[in-house]
Amino acid sequence: MTRTSMIIEILTLFPEMFPGVLESSIIGRAQTSELLHIRVRNIRDYTTDKHHVADDAPYGGGPGMVMKPEPLAAALDAVALDHPQTALTRVYLTPEGEVWNQTLAEEFARLPGIVLVCGHYEGIDERIRTTCIDREVSAGDYVLTGGELPAMMIADSVARLIPGVVGNEQSIVQESFGHHGLLDHPHYTRPEKFRGMGLPEMLLSGHHKNIDAWRREQSLRRTFERRPDLVIAAWETLSRKEQALVQSWRDSEEEGSEDTCPTGQKKVSDPDTLT
Ligand SMILES: C[S@@+](CC[C@H](N)C(=O)[O-])C[C@H]1O[C@@H](n2cnc3c(N)ncnc32)[C@H](O)[C@@H]1O
Repeated sequence: MTRTSMIIEILTLFPEMFPGVLESSIIGRAQTSELLHIRVRNIRDYTTDKHHVADDAPYGGGPGMVMKPEPLAAALDAVALDHPQTALTRVYLTPEGEVWNQTLAEEFARLPGIVLVCGHYEGIDERIRTTCIDREVSAGDYVLTGGELPAMMIADSVARLIPGVVGNEQSIVQESFGHHGLLDHPHYTRPEKFRGMGLPEMLLSGHHKNIDAWRREQSLRRTFERRPDLVIAAWETLSRKEQALVQSWRDSEEEGSEDTCPTGQKKVSDPDTLT
C-alpha cells in the first residue's frame, strides 16, 4: 500500500449495488493502482442466527423495521480488526447528518480511511449511533430508501481528491467549488461548428493568458447568476476589478429588471444580498 493510499470500507445490506459504480472509470483505476482500497461488506454476514436476520420491528411500535445493533457492531469490530494500524472514521449516512459538500469531501480526503455505514428501512438502532459512529453525513434534504447511493457519492467525491487519482491535478483546483470558491467556466470541444453554433472566439486565439482571464470572468459571471451566495463567500478573494464587475452586473440587473421582466422576477434570487 502506498503512503498516500486511502481505505474506504462500506457496510451495507445490499453489496450488489456497488460494483458497477466503484469498479469503473477513475475510481476503478485508483484501486488498481493501489491509491485507494475499497471493500464492501455485507452486514448480513455478521449475523449469528440461522436466517441471517439483520432487522427487527421497532420498540414502541410504528411502521417499518430497524436495523439490529449486533450485526452492525460485529461488522464494525471486524473492520477495526482488519486495520489495526489505521484509525478509521466511522460515518453513518442519514438525512439527519451534516449535508455533504466539497469542503467535507476535502476534509475526508485527508483522513487515512473511513467506514461508511448504510442504513435501510427506518434506519439503524440508536445505540450504534451513540457509541460506534464518529460522524453523520446527509446527501441532502430528501429521503432515500438506503444509504448506498450517498455512500457511493461520498466514496467518489473523496476518492478523486486523493493525490494521483485524477490525472491532471489542475482540473481539481479549477473546477466548481475548487480553491477559487466559484463555479466552473463553460467548456467546449470539437467540432468547431455544431448545429449552427460556433465557439467563443477567445478560445481559438491561442493566447493562454487571455483565455485564463476569459475563463475566470465566465466563472465569476456564472456564479453570480446561479449561486450569488458563493460570490459573497469569495468576495474578499476577488480582485478590485472583479468586485467592480460584479457590482456592474448587479446594477444592470436592477436597472433592467423592470424593462425585461414583466413579472417583476429577477434573474438573480436577491442581488441586494451582495455586499
Ligand atoms: C428510509 S431512510 C430512513 C429515514 C429516517 N427514518 C428519517 O426519517 O430520517 C433509510 C436509510 O437511508 C439512508 N438515507 C436516506 N436518505 C438519506 C440522505 N438524504 N442522506 C444520507 N442517507 C440517507 C439512511 O442510511 C437511512 O437510514
